[in-house]
Amino acid sequence: TVVVLDFGSQYTQLILRRVRELGFYGELLPYDEPWENVQKLSPSAFILSGGPASVYDENSPKIPSYVFESNLPVLGICYGLQALVHQLGGRVEKSPHREFGPAELEIVKHVGIFEGLPEKFTVWMSHSDRVEVLPDGFEVIAKSENSPYAAIRSQNDKYFGVQFHPEVVHTQHGKEILKNFLTVVAQLSPNWSMKNLAEELIKELREKIDGKVILGLSGGVDSSVVAMLLHKAVPDKLIPIFVDTGLLRKNEGQEVVKRFEELGIKIHYVDASDRFFKALEGIEDPEEKRKRIGHTFIDVFYEEAMKLRQQHGDIEYLAQGTLYPDVIESKVAERKAGAKIKTHHNVGGLPEKLPFKIIEPLRYLFKDEVRALGKELGLPESILYRHPFPGPGLAVRIIGPVTREAVKILQEADAIFIEELKKWDLYNKVWQAFAVLLPVKTVGVMGDYRTYENVIALRAVTSEDGMTADWAKLPHEFLNHVAKRIVNEVRGVNRVVYDITSKPPATIEWE
Ligand code: XMP
Repeated sequence: TVVVLDFGSQYTQLILRRVRELGFYGELLPYDEPWENVQKLSPSAFILSGGPASVYDENSPKIPSYVFESNLPVLGICYGLQALVHQLGGRVEKSPHREFGPAELEIVKHVGIFEGLPEKFTVWMSHSDRVEVLPDGFEVIAKSENSPYAAIRSQNDKYFGVQFHPEVVHTQHGKEILKNFLTVVAQLSPNWSMKNLAEELIKELREKIDGKVILGLSGGVDSSVVAMLLHKAVPDKLIPIFVDTGLLRKNEGQEVVKRFEELGIKIHYVDASDRFFKALEGIEDPEEKRKRIGHTFIDVFYEEAMKLRQQHGDIEYLAQGTLYPDVIESKVAERKAGAKIKTHHNVGGLPEKLPFKIIEPLRYLFKDEVRALGKELGLPESILYRHPFPGPGLAVRIIGPVTREAVKILQEADAIFIEELKKWDLYNKVWQAFAVLLPVKTVGVMGDYRTYENVIALRAVTSEDGMTADWAKLPHEFLNHVAKRIVNEVRGVNRVVYDITSKPPATIEWE
C-alpha cells in the first residue's frame, strides 16, 4: 500500500487519486496516524502531502518517526518536502517571494522521479516558506526562479522532495513524476484494479455490517453502485428505499424498480407524490420549491425508515452514496468555518436525527471510479451512463407553480427528447438533456384552428463537470424531428424552442 500522509493540503486527495489512476493501491491517512494502523496496510512507500502550516509554527505537524525507521522510500510534496528537510537537519525559511501558480522548472539532474522527462517544463507552485539549506546527504535535482531547491533527493535515493504539486493537472508531467517515484524509486509494480476494489469493498462491508441496512436509492449512478455493493456483500440485510416524488421522468419509478429486480434486488417503493404536490401547491420561487422538496423528502424518508425499523427491529445502518468530492467539499467548508466535523449528506441532507450508523462505501472514490466499479459489479450501461438528474426533479423544470397536469405534459415532451437522443446516438455525447415547460402560452395554428398553448424549451449541454457548460450543437434535422414529434404527440404544446446559451452566463437548469 502506498501510504499518503495528509498534512492538510487541499490537493491531498488528488495525490491519492493519481496513485490509484497509475494502478497502485493507496490510502490516505492523517499525518499522525499511529504505526499500528499503518503497519496493518503493509506500507510500501510514503508520500507526504502539502499543507497550510509552516515548520516553524508552534505545534506544526511532524513526520512520524516510523516514516524514517521503516526505511521505505519517501516523497515529500510542498510542506512534506519542508518537513523532511527540517526534520533531517536542513533549514527552511520564510521566503520574501511567495510563489503561487505556474513556474518554470529546470531539471538539474535527470534521476529518480525525473527519469525520461524534458529539461524544462511548467509546474504548479503554492508556498511561502522555502528550503534554504539541505540536510546532509541531500542534493538538488531541479530549481525554479524562486525556489533554488525546487526538487531534492537524498544520495541513497530513498528520499525525494518537490516544492511544487505534481498531483495537479497544471503541472506538466506531474503524473509521470509520481509514476517514476512509484516504479523507479520505490520499484513497485501496478497491482490495483477495479476488481480488487470491488472485492475489497464487499469484504469490508460483509465484515462490518451485522444488522440490516437501509439505503436511499435514487436510480442514479452513485446510489445504484452502493446498492449493488451491499447486495453482493449482505444480500439478506439490504433494504433499498425508493421515494417516488411524482417529479421524476416518465415511468422512472417503475423502471428503477424493474431494473433492480432484474439484478435480484428488491426495492421498498414509496409513492409519496401526493405529499410533494401538496407541499408545492402554488409555489413559484425556485429556492422555495427546493426547500420544500428537501424537507418533504427528509420527512418521508424518516417515516419510512421508522416504519421499517418497527418491522425489522434490527436496522442498524444507513448507507449513502457520498463521493470523495463531497467529502473534500465538506472538509473545506469545515476548515473555513472552523467548525467541528460534520458529515456530508447526499440527498439534500438526510436527517441527523436518524438513529442509524452511516455507511459511505464510495467516500474515497471519484465519479469515474464509481462508474468503473459499477461496471465491474455488473450494473448495466443504462444506469452507469445516465445523465445527472437534479434532486428536486421536474419541479425546477416547470417554471412557475407545479401541478400534476404540468408534470404530465413535461414528462411526455421530455420522454420524446430523450428517446430520440438515444435513437440518434446522441445521448452519450451530451452531459445533460431535458425539456422545460414555460409559463407562457403562445398562438399557433393546427388544421383550421388557432391554438393558444404551452411552449416547451429543449436544453442540451456539453460539460466536463457541470460547473461550466456549452449548449450542444445538435443537428438541425434532429431538432426538427423532435419538435415535430412533441407538437404532434403532446397535447397542450404547440411550440418548441431550443436553448442556445452557455453556462455562464446562464445555468444548466432554468430554475
Ligand atoms: P446549474 O443549473 O446550476 O446545474 O447549472 C448544475 C448541475 O447541478 C444540477 N442541479 C441540481 N442538482 N439539486 C440537485 O441535486 C438541485 O437543486 C440542483 N440544481 C441544479 C443540474 O441538473 C446540473 O447537473
